This record gives sequence, C-alpha cells and structure tokens, in this order.
Amino acid sequence: MTKKDIVLTGDRPTGPLHLGHFVGSLQKRVELQDICKQYVMIADYQAFTDNVDNPQKVRDNVLQVMLDYLAVGIDPNKTTFFIQSLIPQIAELYFIYLNFVTVNRLRRNPTVKTEIQQKEFGENVTAGFLTYPVHQAADITVVKGNLVPVGADQYPVLEQANEIVRKINSLYKVQVLPEIKAVESKVPRLSGLDGKAKMSKSLGNAIFLSDDADTVLKKVMTMYTDPDHVRVEDPGKIEGNVVFTYLDVFDPDKQKVQELKDHYQKGGLGDVKVKRYLAEVLNTFLDPIRTKRLEFAKDPQAALDIAFKGSLQVREIGAQTLKEVKTAISLEY
Ligand code: TRP
Repeated sequence: MTKKDIVLTGDRPTGPLHLGHFVGSLQKRVELQDICKQYVMIADYQAFTDNVDNPQKVRDNVLQVMLDYLAVGIDPNKTTFFIQSLIPQIAELYFIYLNFVTVNRLRRNPTVKTEIQQKEFGENVTAGFLTYPVHQAADITVVKGNLVPVGADQYPVLEQANEIVRKINSLYKVQVLPEIKAVESKVPRLSGLDGKAKMSKSLGNAIFLSDDADTVLKKVMTMYTDPDHVRVEDPGKIEGNVVFTYLDVFDPDKQKVQELKDHYQKGGLGDVKVKRYLAEVLNTFLDPIRTKRLEFAKDPQAALDIAFKGSLQVREIGAQTLKEVKTAISLEY
C-alpha cells in the first residue's frame, strides 16, 4: 500500500456504529489514513433504500456516525469525509452501471439475498434495494477507489462492483476504472451477543461504541456462552462461546485469557465471573472512545461541517470521473 492507493469505505447511518464495525473496518481506516489517500462516506442514500418509512432516522444518524468516526480517531486532517447524497455524480454513475448488470445477477448476490430474507421483503423488494450494490460500485469508483476495508459480509458486494468495472473497461477498451480490492481485517466478522454469525443493529445483538459502561455490563451479562455449563464446577466449552470470542479480540492480556480458558474448560469458573471481567475489558477499550465522542458531540455543527466540506471536494473529483466514464461510453458532449 502506498500514497497512490485510494481507499474508500462507508457506513449506513441507521444507528450508531458498533464493535463489529470497529473490528471489521474502522480500525483499518485509522491505520490506512497514514499510508493512502482515504475517503470515508456516510451512505445516507443506501440507508434510505430500506428506510423509506422513516427517513428522519437516517438524517439523524448522519451525525451519530460522524461522531463515531471522529471518536475512534479517523482524522479529518488525513481523511476526506463526505455524504453520499451530496454527490450527484454517484447517482449518475449508478444509472450508467445499471446497464452492466443483470437483474438475475443482483438477485443472486448472497449479501443482498440474506438481507431480503432477514427483512422479509420477499417478492416486494424494491428496485432501489435490489440494486444498492450497483450504487455502491458508484460510491467506490467515483473517487477511483481501489482499496476497500470492509467486513466479510461486504465481499460479495465488492465482487459485483468488480464485474461492472471489468465489463466497462473491456467493452470500451479503456482503463478508466480501477479494480477494487477488499482490505481484510484480522477479525472480518464479529459474532453478535446472541452468538449469531454477525453483530448487527437490526438483529438487536450489538454493543455500540457509544454505549455507557452500565449498558455494556448489562449486554455482556446476556451473552451466549455454553448452554451446557450449568453449574460453576462443570467443565465449560470455549468454541462458540461469545465471551471468549470477545476476550480473544479485545483483551490485550493474552496470557490472562489463556488462563481463564483453561480454568473454564477444567470447571470451577462461573459465567458471571468471566462476563464481569469481559465487561471491564470492553469498558477499558471503550472509555477513551466515549470520552472523545462526548467532546465532539459538544459541537454537532462542526462535526457535520467536516462532511459537508469534504463533499464539495468529492463533487469535483466526481465530475472528472464521470466525464471520463461518459467519454468511454461515447456520451460526453
Ligand atoms: N454496504 C455497506 C454496509 O452496509 C456500506 C457502504 C455503502 C459501503 N457504500 C460503501 C462500504 C462503499 C464500502 C464501500 O456496511
């Protein structure tokens, strides 16, 4: 990775960001902003695709997501923030790109398929929702992004974006759009409190970066452990035990984690005790983030202005990209 690499990621503003976002992507962004040119986008139009009945929620969460970004240390002096709906060129590229993907291909996208099931859209899925991966291809290519640090659930979306990029480049014999690579994190997928494969706000199994210490403790107490570990003296299982999954990810004291694991497996270590320890570990990790977040929250307009200012820059870059794409499709006048 070098200064020539262009990193783009984004998040849907449907709620504050959680630990899954942190390990899947936010952490990497803090690293990458020192190495590459980085853009971070608040995907309000993408959030709109399944929130048409409550757009105010999306609007309100733009600020929440922006505060999370600043709190974890994504630095406006190093990273350009922008808001998706403020970049008209994204919408134009999206329309062009829609012609390079079939409806059948969109229906087969595993990420979208899972979401359609979870949200129970069935046959009533809207064109906007079904085609959001195409819109996402426009998000990335509008700044000619070639690196995208995201969690594993997003890989199929990136694959679909690449199919569009390759089709355009090969059909018109141009090199106008770069291919996109996922930047994998050490923890591409963090399980939820309930042990489900993915932490997600809509599944109600998330710990938010902005949760206070008490809420974190309460949530940890509900965590899925080993259902057969009934009495303290019983030997317990580590595999699939969310408490230990999280300790592996968030406790810097690896030796201590190993001791707890040994003790738990042997028997004699109760769930409540390990859970209390995990809550402490998480709160130690979250404390500095919470403090910074409160600081930035004192001036919400300043936080939003960072994204508005960045959007003006991205519009200029977007105009150039769009011009090149329109030239490639012979519709630049
Ligand atoms: N789909 C992503 C998510 O749900 C959000 C997103 C929108 C995104 N546009 C993007 C991620 C572009 C990476 C690149 O988390």
